[in-house]
Amino acid sequence: MSKEILEFMNVLKKVTGLSLTDEKTYLLESRLSGLMSDHKIASFYEFSKKFENSHEVDFREKVIERITTHETKFFRDESIFETILDRIIPEIIDRKNELYKGWKNHPIRIWSAACSTGQEPYSVAIAIRERLPHVFKNIKILATDIAKETIEKARSGCYTSFEIGRGLEEYHLGRYFDKLPDGTFRINDEIRSVVEFKQHNLISSEFPTGFDLVLCRNVSYYFDSNERRNLFDKIAKTLNQDSFLIIGSAESVSDFSSKFLLREFGLCRYYEVNSSNVTLFSRGT
Ligand SMILES: C[S@@+](CC[C@H](N)C(=O)[O-])C[C@H]1O[C@@H](n2cnc3c(N)ncnc32)[C@H](O)[C@@H]1O
Repeated sequence: MSKEILEFMNVLKKVTGLSLTDEKTYLLESRLSGLMSDHKIASFYEFSKKFENSHEVDFREKVIERITTHETKFFRDESIFETILDRIIPEIIDRKNELYKGWKNHPIRIWSAACSTGQEPYSVAIAIRERLPHVFKNIKILATDIAKETIEKARSGCYTSFEIGRGLEEYHLGRYFDKLPDGTFRINDEIRSVVEFKQHNLISSEFPTGFDLVLCRNVSYYFDSNERRNLFDKIAKTLNQDSFLIIGSAESVSDFSSKFLLREFGLCRYYEVNSSNVTLFSRGT
């Protein structure tokens, strides 16, 4: 790896907290070459200087947009959604009933962290609206991502037919999306009304609190071990006691944090934060 690229990676880490694993650095030149020619930048040395300059906010946003991977789809890893509907939401309601003697005045708060272009939070909202309509009125979903254009696209709720074709059933399309004159599809207002989008960096931003369920899928493997430890520690604090975390199927919490209990439902694995060491729920695992 060239000295200039190494230096840019140090600057990137210093400014955003993002670190690129060695396997990902080969992507740098291809992903950033367009931006370098747009801005008439001849070397990575010059590129680093511009990125480090705190006045270059737009430039930084564009770099972050390009070096992050936004792969996602509707209802990604379907078994997760069955688990949310059949296991996690009922347990959250049991817990709220136990704590407050009635859950209806206490919204179920869900955070879709690193949500990319929004398919994940919208899929959660659609699944709940479809199968648990009485619960839908009581959910609030926060959806965040580090990348600005990506979160703006998520907020717009507009998708091409190619994006729709990745994971969304015809039935859900007809019921929860409006077709626009240009042939794209927009999520309807009912589903939109329960999702709030914000830009948020999982490494350096302050974490919101008070969640019953956090989905943080397919992002931790971009972080080094230290960042993963910090990430799971911060997620544990962001969750209410006896609440839940879902990560991607290729990710692991246990190697980085002892604060979570591994739970299983069918083929799906998820985690419970149980700092009191008291398990309120007795159904199965
Ligand atoms: C592969 S996508 C995963 C999207 C979705 N969670 C899923 O599983 O389908 C990873 C997302 O993580 C975001 N990301 C990367 N680093 C981040 C950070 N430090 N803070 C917040 N989001 C980050 C990227 O911008 C990207 O949209």
